[in-house]
Amino acid sequence: MKNFEFYNPVRILFGKDQLKKLAIYIPQGQKILMLYGGGSVKKNGIYEQVMNALKDYKVIEFGGIEPNPHYETAMKAVEIVKAEKLDFILAVGGGSVIDAAKFIAAAALYTDGDPWNILAKGAVVKASLPIGTVLTLPATGSEMNMGSVVTRKSTNEKFSFLTPSSFPKFSILMPEAAASLPQKQVANGIVDAYVHVIEQYLTFPVNTPLQDRFAESILKTLIEEGPKVYANPADYDAMANLMWSATMALNGTIACGAATDWSVHMIGHELTAFYGIDHARTLAVVLPGIWKALKNEKKEKLIQYAERVWNISGTDDEKIDKAILQTTAFFNSLGIPTSLKDYDLGNDAINRIVMRFSERGWKAIGDRQLVTLDVVRKALEYQL
Ligand code: NZQ
Ligand code: ZN
Repeated sequence: MKNFEFYNPVRILFGKDQLKKLAIYIPQGQKILMLYGGGSVKKNGIYEQVMNALKDYKVIEFGGIEPNPHYETAMKAVEIVKAEKLDFILAVGGGSVIDAAKFIAAAALYTDGDPWNILAKGAVVKASLPIGTVLTLPATGSEMNMGSVVTRKSTNEKFSFLTPSSFPKFSILMPEAAASLPQKQVANGIVDAYVHVIEQYLTFPVNTPLQDRFAESILKTLIEEGPKVYANPADYDAMANLMWSATMALNGTIACGAATDWSVHMIGHELTAFYGIDHARTLAVVLPGIWKALKNEKKEKLIQYAERVWNISGTDDEKIDKAILQTTAFFNSLGIPTSLKDYDLGNDAINRIVMRFSERGWKAIGDRQLVTLDVVRKALEYQL
């Protein structure tokens, strides 16, 4: 097991009626920016419930955070936070609203120049305003981690930043709010959470039996519960299981002491940045390609995954091939395609992505730096 330091201070309030506790966890007298997306919270009644819970606070609302939140929109919110001297940001919605809140909270206190550098150049964030979240979509795990992903629309660049001051003070996880999700977003959430686990598990053995079994249990729960939620987002019990699985998939627990990869996400981000494909859908295309390209290098963990998650037997090669097929079939069963041609993309898209990595000076990414530009190309070519 590798050395690690684990820190996660996020208070989780899970389930029905937890919204009522908002006033306990936001100090009295705080001036709040209430951040939300394109309006789903108004349709499903969550907006009203939140505003009700905040009735004793001064609240300024800011709606219109886009999926794959835009830097440009977030900067408008930063102006408001500064002009109104707001103290607290409450994000109500999915990962995009939460990620925007994390960026706004950091940018509002950033005094070392252009806040874009936080994303593009990894500039150090010394402080952030406190944030809280009300989660309506199980997927990203952003509600219990310190990561944020923001897109600059004008240049089609999608970057992430991580800093401990981005951890929410609290997150209220509302499976009942997710009942209004369209089937497509449920499917995206299942696949995003699934690939988060894979990025931290399916690398190479470093003697982490406990973390491996945690990871496998999340994958198996997603395989069991995911289709129930996909069939009926109003199935509260199944949605609760999906929501907690997605949170556990990316709150740092399974990464402790493990070897992690993240190359599927890095390649996927370019498919979103250039072509606007939903985040999870990009992962479903890239993941099987990376596995095919790195079959040998990831052999031990692919075999373990085949045996323990899918109960596959046979020769080593059969196990690996069947595991890739089963995973692809699982994504497809949720209406998520796995090839570039499903998005009318071909070699031009592959060239564009490889070119961008090369322009950035990236020579290799992923665990053991195995994903060179040639591997990126090969992985995507498998998925043509
Ligand atoms: O904008 P509104 O109207 O709220 O609608 C949203 C949006 O259109 C809708 N929605 C959310 N809750 C709903 C609902 N519709 C009906 N009922 C509800 N209860 O769903 C759509 C998608 O929302 P979004 O927040 O974009 O989805 P998700 O949670 O999947 O977030 C995706 C973003 O998170 C980033 C992705 O890159 C992407 O930008 N990620 C963040 C991570 C992190 N911070 O740790 C890790 C992930 O790997 C990921 O990269
Ligand atoms: Zn993701």
